[in-house]
Amino acid sequence: MTVGIKQLISLDVFNHLLSLPVEFHTDQATGGVSRKVTRGTGALSSLSFFLTGNILPTVIEIGLVIAIFIKFFPPIFAAVFGVFVLVYVTFTVVVTNRRQKLLLETNKRDDKGSEQSIDALMNYETVKYFTNEDFESKRYQSTLEKWADTAIVSNKKGANLNMGQGLILTADLTALLALAVREYLNGAATLGDFVLITTYLNRVAIPLSFLGALYRSLKQSLANVDEMFKLMEVENDVVDKEGASELCCTKGHIQIKNVEFAYKKDRQILKGISIDIPSHTSVALVGASGSGKSTVSKLLLRLYDVDQGMVTIDGTDIRDITQTSLRNNIGVVAQDSILFNESIFKNIQYGKPDATKEEVYEAAKLASINELIEGLPQGYDTEVGERGVKLSGGEKQRVAIARMLLKNPPILLFDEATASLDTKSEQSIQEAIKTISKGGKTTIAIAHRLSTIVDFDKIVVLDKGKVIEEGTHEELLNSCGAYQKLWASQSGVGTANG
Ligand SMILES: Nc1ncnc2c1ncn2[C@@H]1O[C@H](COP(=O)(O)OP(=O)(O)O)[C@@H](O)[C@H]1O
Ligand SMILES: [Mg+2]
Repeated sequence: MTVGIKQLISLDVFNHLLSLPVEFHTDQATGGVSRKVTRGTGALSSLSFFLTGNILPTVIEIGLVIAIFIKFFPPIFAAVFGVFVLVYVTFTVVVTNRRQKLLLETNKRDDKGSEQSIDALMNYETVKYFTNEDFESKRYQSTLEKWADTAIVSNKKGANLNMGQGLILTADLTALLALAVREYLNGAATLGDFVLITTYLNRVAIPLSFLGALYRSLKQSLANVDEMFKLMEVENDVVDKEGASELCCTKGHIQIKNVEFAYKKDRQILKGISIDIPSHTSVALVGASGSGKSTVSKLLLRLYDVDQGMVTIDGTDIRDITQTSLRNNIGVVAQDSILFNESIFKNIQYGKPDATKEEVYEAAKLASINELIEGLPQGYDTEVGERGVKLSGGEKQRVAIARMLLKNPPILLFDEATASLDTKSEQSIQEAIKTISKGGKTTIAIAHRLSTIVDFDKIVVLDKGKVIEEGTHEELLNSCGAYQKLWASQSGVGTANG
């Protein structure tokens, strides 16, 4: 039962987290989110365990004992007992609630610790380059200490609660026993009655202290579950419209019309950009680093929604298309390609999960990585490590290209995809890209090295979030503007044309 619940909820949370926009993930530290989920699902299991197995029988037991007291003993017994239950419950609830804030603070510090350790472990290379193991260790230690400080106070409060509950319980038992002794001495009760009373009292004391402890764990579990459900409540602001259409058999005519965009309100990134990318053509985006090229590609994929203007495909605003069908039609090789911790084969196959072996090999060949893979001792079964750390930058990039070629979508998007390759592999991949693009594809390439895009149908130069020039390579060179300067600086031929 509890395993089933944990499984269901874990899957639900996972699905929800994956569906959230990129923005959520860029703002959240993975370590903290993962802690919240672990604590939440763990708490859920214990909650369902409490609720199903223990509470009801205990409550019934207490009720029965009270009924017996009322029926068979003088009213004073029930009165004393009732007052006691009231005091006990009030005490438990008030103290537990006061402790709740502390619990939440402890959780927050627990998250922080997890965030820091995961961050350091994921960036272990940088830690080593700067020999900052000590620095990281001290930082983590200080966070752990802060966590321990609140955790200890919280535990102390818990212990005080237990002690208080014990005191109240004992006081009451003593009072009721004293009453019973008085009744016996008065001759109103027999020795048998006396024994009966003490037995009943014991029967009720144990479940009551159990309920007290239960309430405490219940509140704690609820706090943990609540934090997890807060994650579930994060709203997705990039959602499919009601009745959004499916994009299929696209001609790949992309228009970016007067688009303005800011990641955060206080910093405008794109300041009114218009780019027309006719179907089956190739367009290159060039410009200084930080000019907004990758941002344009993210808007095209609708990882973010534009603030002003619109992006259309075949004349339809992409906000009127389902995100799945939109992204199915676009193949991306990102600026810093990241692979999964699996074999090379699986990583390429990710582009089309049902691809056959032959298709995977074919894609690897097109991305000119087949020779390299076949030369490896384990061939296609070579594990690439977390995020692909066991491959060089260029190898990773080529696996990413193969993965995209396998998907074979009508729109291709390369974000500095060949930047980390040597000239020879770059040329062979450029050839491959050219061959594929000829088969009626729309190609968008963000390029740093201009030599790779000279024969593109159109080159768009961006600067600080604006289009400052556009045209073919020849046209741009002849207009003697920013592109011409960029070209000259890269080819090292001064300001001469060509
Ligand atoms: N997720 C983000 N949140 C806030 N700012 C961002 C984010 N991603 C990029 N930026 C900023 O937007 C600007 C444009 O970035 P980008 O489009 O990646 O430039 P590039 O032209 O080099 O690809 C940069 O100044 C960058 O700092
Ligand atoms: Mg970029």
